[in-house]
Amino acid sequence: MNHSSIGLFDSGFGGLTVMREVAEQLPHENLIYFGDTAHLPYGNKSAETILQYAFDNAQFLLDQGIKLLIISCHTACSYAFEALQQKLSIPVIGVREPGIEALLQATRTKQVAVLGTRATIASGFFQAALQSRQIDVHAIACPLFVPFVEEGLPNHPAAKLIIEHYLAPLKRTAVDTVLLACTHYPLLREAIQEALGSHIQLIEPAPATALAARDLLKKRKLLNPGTSPPVYQFYTSDDPQKFRQLAKLFFPRPIEQVLLSPCKK
Ligand code: DGL
Repeated sequence: MNHSSIGLFDSGFGGLTVMREVAEQLPHENLIYFGDTAHLPYGNKSAETILQYAFDNAQFLLDQGIKLLIISCHTACSYAFEALQQKLSIPVIGVREPGIEALLQATRTKQVAVLGTRATIASGFFQAALQSRQIDVHAIACPLFVPFVEEGLPNHPAAKLIIEHYLAPLKRTAVDTVLLACTHYPLLREAIQEALGSHIQLIEPAPATALAARDLLKKRKLLNPGTSPPVYQFYTSDDPQKFRQLAKLFFPRPIEQVLLSPCKK
């Protein structure tokens, strides 16, 4: 089991920002990434549809014999985390809780903002989780952020205008920390920071998620002892060539091969 891979899935390419961190923190682990690009974006789908996709993706990765599942998509996590954790016989980690913990540790004013897709914000999960810890939350759906990133325009003046527009409600608040609760938003970090000012801390959940994965594997004695270089495999449900092209934005290491997932052919 120790030599088995960690499986990660996302609606598309963005979850590679999580895989990047996992590869950094767990350099001996074999990783299998599945990007469900045929159904991208999840951020404007219904709860039922997102849940179904999440189950299909998890099943595909389970069929590859993974030892741990990391739900790398915030939207999928917002709707499917509990259901997958209950159903699967292997451990499941999501990007949600590690991000929230990092946010809680960072805020001083106890006023925070969470930025996510329309579906993530509509799930109400972050609002409820933070309010139950006596934190004042501004939850903002930013549906146009993902296309700007995928078009390779994170610093375009139009992206800056949209960022200003979405984040305007935070201007006269005591918010001191902002959670980037979407796989793509780390690529807009610079522009978001510029719009909010340097006094605001931005939290990316990926590093905390990778650490949570490391702790869990350690606790369950599932770490790979690492005698040979790790193997990284990439699957997509649509157009492997396009995946390889766009993946470069999110994952700095070479991607030799991207395979079409057999279940989606
Ligand atoms: N991966 C999604 C997330 O983290 C963003 C892209 C999408 O809408 O599918 O919420």
